[in-house]
Amino acid sequence: MSDLQKKQVAELTELEARAELKDLAKELSKQDELYHVKDRPEISDAAYDALVKRHTEIEKLFPHLKRKDSHSNRVGAKVGATPFSKVIHDTPMLSLENAFSEQDLKDFLTRSKKKLGLSDQDSLEIMAEPKIDGLSCSLTYQDGYLIQAATRGDGTTGEDITDNVKTIKDIPHNLSGDYPKILYVRGEIYLGKDDFLKLNEQREKENKQLFANPRNAAAGSVRQLNSSVTAKRPLKFFAYSVVSEIDNITTQYDMLQQLELWGLKVCKASQICRSIKDVLAYYSQINHDRPLLPYDIDGVVYKINNLENQKKMGFVARAPRWALAHKFPAEQAQTILKQITIQVGRTGVLTPVANLEPVNIGGVIVARATLHNADEIQRKDIRVGDRVIVQRAGDVIPQVVKVIVEKDHPRTLPYQFPTQCPVCDSHAIREQDEAAYRCTGGFNCAAQAIEKLKHFVSRKAFDIDGLGGKSIEFFWDKNLIKTPVDIFTLEERDKESATRIQNFPGWGKLSAKNLFAAIHEKRKISLDRFIYSLGIRHVGQVTAKEMAGYYQTFQAWMEGVLAAKAAKDSEPYQVLNSLEGIGEIVADAVIEFFKEPNNEILIKNLGTYLDIQPSGKKKNDNLLLAGKIIIFTGTLQSISRDQAKEQAENLGAKVTGSVSGKTDFVVVGKDPGSKATKAEKLGVKILTEQEWFALITQA
Ligand code: IVH
Repeated sequence: MSDLQKKQVAELTELEARAELKDLAKELSKQDELYHVKDRPEISDAAYDALVKRHTEIEKLFPHLKRKDSHSNRVGAKVGATPFSKVIHDTPMLSLENAFSEQDLKDFLTRSKKKLGLSDQDSLEIMAEPKIDGLSCSLTYQDGYLIQAATRGDGTTGEDITDNVKTIKDIPHNLSGDYPKILYVRGEIYLGKDDFLKLNEQREKENKQLFANPRNAAAGSVRQLNSSVTAKRPLKFFAYSVVSEIDNITTQYDMLQQLELWGLKVCKASQICRSIKDVLAYYSQINHDRPLLPYDIDGVVYKINNLENQKKMGFVARAPRWALAHKFPAEQAQTILKQITIQVGRTGVLTPVANLEPVNIGGVIVARATLHNADEIQRKDIRVGDRVIVQRAGDVIPQVVKVIVEKDHPRTLPYQFPTQCPVCDSHAIREQDEAAYRCTGGFNCAAQAIEKLKHFVSRKAFDIDGLGGKSIEFFWDKNLIKTPVDIFTLEERDKESATRIQNFPGWGKLSAKNLFAAIHEKRKISLDRFIYSLGIRHVGQVTAKEMAGYYQTFQAWMEGVLAAKAAKDSEPYQVLNSLEGIGEIVADAVIEFFKEPNNEILIKNLGTYLDIQPSGKKKNDNLLLAGKIIIFTGTLQSISRDQAKEQAENLGAKVTGSVSGKTDFVVVGKDPGSKATKAEKLGVKILTEQEWFALITQA
């Protein structure tokens, strides 16, 4: 459901709230993992914050529905999915409450004053600091020596990244001056904007995947298994707090000074504020200066300056009551949209990309932005040549926010989304209720072929010994395997080739011989595995088995689906559509696959190299209703529609949804409607519910 369609929290019923909390628990945990463990977020910070906000609001209104796995008990990622050893934090590493409006900020000040016994007129010192967009880190110094560095992890348990952190120049291995025996310092590891750009330039040259932003680059660098890789990344660090109490230090301000004396770096842009006016002025100033800062920030953190007062304020489950984060809106700039190009992903999704007149957004030059999908372009009426507002939300990929329609400036025609794949020319389709167009080229599309080939040889498909994903990449790079047929002609071609596989580094006569033998062995394959290996959209193992069970032979399957492709109101289409687990979506996906002539050629060609065996459950011609096509319409009185369907299928019938000349029976319940009328017209036999039971009890 889109945000616009969502009900106000106050209007939710208990049932709806429970269901939404369940969905949110799943979604938030997925997004946490993408962000913290995989360093590959899929949604913007703002979208994530909106999810958290909704979650908090629902829990507040329905406290008794709070789940054991509630996100409000967690801070970040689950630790354990990585090879780093665990570190249990002596004091949990918490998160911050977010302010979304000026009012939230005012409420924070009022709340704090009340709790501290101050009147509204009393002034309360607030330390305002930039919120550095990196990853938090806990440092442990024993006798002044850095003995451990850890990530935040889930707030209670983090990962030991000591070796990598020791390569960061801003973090001293030994403290200067007077220090306590044990000192826990908290702060943010980050990568400067310039260093981020340089790193990505380098990665582009090396054909490596680019980092989406400095924060992901920093997180990826810190979590390297090899410290010498981290050492090459110019990571930086700002310390922002000390966990334990320190003699003679009574304010956050003094604490920052002390951290500097110990030799740590602190952010110089912090400031003490004494009123809401000061605080708002600081926020605007920093937001204004943001593009000029050499590092990314995503907001401001307000902290009660006096440490004794912080203690009095205490904590809620996952955040201190004495601090608040105030995020900035996304950074935006205007530029011209020069061209719209289409990128084809490895799964065949066509993504429109805006090619822009390069523009500086908050210190980063942006020349491309995502346009998401066809609907988005249409909704925002984005056309080539338009002046557009582009935003870099500090996360993921820049986006085109909207068009600025300029008076007297002629516009080009509305953008027509291509219905052909720009990579392979195959037709692209869009399924019902789907935003994306997909290329149907599969193996014939260079953008998708390698993934398709990996699927083709995977364990549940052809499962060829010695030919896994890595080998597919290897043979692809050598131009030896580009289609599935190439796998089965590999040996023959190798014999005639000047560069034999046996001579490739790491190969040899025996390995080559073994590979050919393994390929040969898999020429004999069951029909269900064969169908599954084609990677047709929506056709998984179960569906493939069902199809194979019904059609039995490769020949019959091909004939069946090609006939189904010819017309949607045909009997073969009805049959395909009515198989167990196959509805219109799957049937249409199969048909779309075969509509692409290259796919049909490929499969037929492949069939000549293989011995495809019948598989799965056999058609049981002895059953009472074997091969009969039946429709149920209207409300049945004694059993549910699903139960009736199951009974019919157990007796060998196919239950379909629409009446045609090939339908054998239409069983009518109460208020049957148009299907019964159509059946009458076509002369199809109509059964009452009683007649139906009489029929099946003969069994
Ligand atoms: S204070 C109890 N100060 O923001 C939490 N955090 O969203 C104390 N951050 O995990 C955090 N700059 O990684 C604090 N000046 C700053 C910060 C800062 C960035 C990060 C930090 C924290 C996250 C919370």
